Amino acid sequence: MEVIVQKTYDEMSKGGAQLIAQTLNAKPNAVLGMATGSTPLGVYKELVRMHKNEGLDFSQVTTFNLDEYVGLPVTHDQSYHYFMHENFFKHVNISHQNIYIPSGTTGNYKAFCDWYEKRIEECGGIDVQILGIGTDGHIAFNEPTSSLSSRTRLKTLAKMTIDDNARFFEKREDVPIYAITMGVGTILEARKLILLANGKGKAQAVKEMVEGPVTSMITASALQLHPSAKVFIDHDAASLLEMKDYYEWIQQKKPGAPQV
Ligand code: F6R
Repeated sequence: MEVIVQKTYDEMSKGGAQLIAQTLNAKPNAVLGMATGSTPLGVYKELVRMHKNEGLDFSQVTTFNLDEYVGLPVTHDQSYHYFMHENFFKHVNISHQNIYIPSGTTGNYKAFCDWYEKRIEECGGIDVQILGIGTDGHIAFNEPTSSLSSRTRLKTLAKMTIDDNARFFEKREDVPIYAITMGVGTILEARKLILLANGKGKAQAVKEMVEGPVTSMITASALQLHPSAKVFIDHDAASLLEMKDYYEWIQQKKPGAPQV
């Protein structure tokens, strides 16, 4: 796992967006894994800027979102369908038939989840997966005790996640209790992972993800098993890391390292 500590949220977002742009420049028909929530908003803003000012092209890109609330129609302003269209898709030249987001309103969740997994495979697998982290250490909606080899499925949200996400809804009771989420096993199959985290509220989860044991109690710790996982964090989110100086030292010395 490579930990990249940035001074600000903007720098962290630019770092994540640059990696995605590099992938698209090398592979214009790349498959991107998308996340929602407040953390990746800066990455999406920067990618939209790159599209408008630098011609970053999404015309051949396919996307798969990590998760969706169960029970919210796609027009609901807190559905992840709505979020993605408002914050990203409507601002770039992506082809709408290449956008995949789990359905929160399907009549057959099991069949839908199996189809979603199959579609990811048929599209050649995910090249780069963007991730945030929950305060309970989740990635996507893989709450504590989720199997580290889990696949896309229906999941009951943890109370902590419901509390955290209540800020987006009028009342806590409006937050859905269930979601469809890619599994940890699904996420680990992406060729590259980019996890972003900012703010003091994420510091404990980040510490456990990076420096704690690999455990289903902190599903983000499974990133330790991935051969190409980059973690972009700001100083606040990095504040509890014991080896923070070492991660900064690595980044400082990287430009002088022998080419492999
Ligand atoms: C969203 C997702 C979640 C969030 C996490 C952090 O698609 O998969 O795991 O990344 O809950 O949310 P924010 O960024 O709002 O703190």
